[in-house]
Amino acid sequence: MALWGGRFQEPTNEDLRKLNDSLPYDRRMAKQDIQGSIAYAKALGLAELLSPDEVDHMVAGLSQVLTEFEDGSMQFSANDEDIHTAVERRLTELIGSVGGKLHTGRSRNDQVATDFRLWVMQGIEQMNHAIRQLQHALIEQSQQQLTTLIPGYTHLQLAQPITVAHWLMSFFWMLERDRDRLRDAHRRTSSLPLGSGALSGNVFNIDRQFLAGELGFASLCQNSLDAVSDRDFVAETLFGFSMVGVHLSRLAEDIILYSNPAFGFVRLNDRYSTGSSLMPQKRNADPMELARGKSGRLIGNLTGLLTTLKGLPSGYNKDLQEDKEAIFDSTDTLLQLLPVVTAIVQTLQLNQVAMQEALDETMLATEIADYLVHKGLPFREAHHASGQIVLYAETHQCNLSAIPLEVYQEVSALFESDVFDLFDYHLAVAKRTASGGTAPSAVQQQLEQALACLVGDW
Ligand code: ARG
Repeated sequence: MALWGGRFQEPTNEDLRKLNDSLPYDRRMAKQDIQGSIAYAKALGLAELLSPDEVDHMVAGLSQVLTEFEDGSMQFSANDEDIHTAVERRLTELIGSVGGKLHTGRSRNDQVATDFRLWVMQGIEQMNHAIRQLQHALIEQSQQQLTTLIPGYTHLQLAQPITVAHWLMSFFWMLERDRDRLRDAHRRTSSLPLGSGALSGNVFNIDRQFLAGELGFASLCQNSLDAVSDRDFVAETLFGFSMVGVHLSRLAEDIILYSNPAFGFVRLNDRYSTGSSLMPQKRNADPMELARGKSGRLIGNLTGLLTTLKGLPSGYNKDLQEDKEAIFDSTDTLLQLLPVVTAIVQTLQLNQVAMQEALDETMLATEIADYLVHKGLPFREAHHASGQIVLYAETHQCNLSAIPLEVYQEVSALFESDVFDLFDYHLAVAKRTASGGTAPSAVQQQLEQALACLVGDW
């Protein structure tokens, strides 16, 4: 018999049953559902709706159901519409009709909101852990590459030389903001809906503060109508996960590009590259393409949920059942992806020679402008003068360092023979010492800041 069978005279249509049932996926919340029910049984005891004996019975029965889930012996029945129904049905089989008292004053609306918040919180915690592993890998690679140079790009055109450490660490900070965002989402998720009933509150004067304490929620939802239908916490977690995906996708794109033989800067370890079934020479960066591709799917989950939420009338609506698959999928997707990306960063082979050879003296044109600035020329004029030098190099097809001093001096009388000292990539990099810059000394500080971010759990 369905939980709500009393007022119906005919059985539910089979197709509708399949459409309506969420058990195939919400069984993933079994643990959270049972935790919530144990806490609720205790609260019913405190409210004297259950005798101490009944509470003990119920807690033992619920623990038994949890064991059955964990050891795989839990049997489902055709009428188990969702995880909440299945747990209550099994509890009643185990402890008899007293099991039917568990739902006193509770609705599946406040129950599912509670279970789901608990699930999302642990999902965020797992994600935090997986992101941290990648951050550690970025730090470790960077520590090895503090003075290795790589071209820095804007508009994907050669811009200025930077260090490999600086390039890699840029992703550390993206991920650091992601963790911060997720911690924030976790804080707002940690608000208890239980005790809100179906929509209007609980008539049995349940101690919600007690429930929050038992379940580890930091606060109580303050409005029962909002509590049962609020899924902001899902949306913002999906956004947080999408943002991680977008960052991974950008890292992936760099690695795909840099592993192209035209660049040849990096090479993926054999264990993390794939070949072609037809072209024997191929060496593809499939995992990085998957990282780039999966970000689309993460964004899709977020967009789907927001679209579901946007027109809902007040109170619980069954549309809300669509919240779960989105986050389960995004969580699984990212938890599968992050360890692979981490291993790729850890095992990435860097070709210092190729990176060095890709540097071009025109990338030092800014140095020429800065040189004139140091000699007192306003930057705009210095920029123009440097541009003329670059034009000369281009029309004469020569390097900036090969242009005769006389030509420099025709452009600006401020040029002296020390202008040729500028043509040293390491020197150009070493000058960017202001905090946040690419100079090895600044990157060293950056690394220390980064390590400090990883002290503690968040
Ligand atoms: N399976 C439902 C969900 O996931 C549980 C809540 C059902 N509530 C209801 N009033 N039908 O949203």
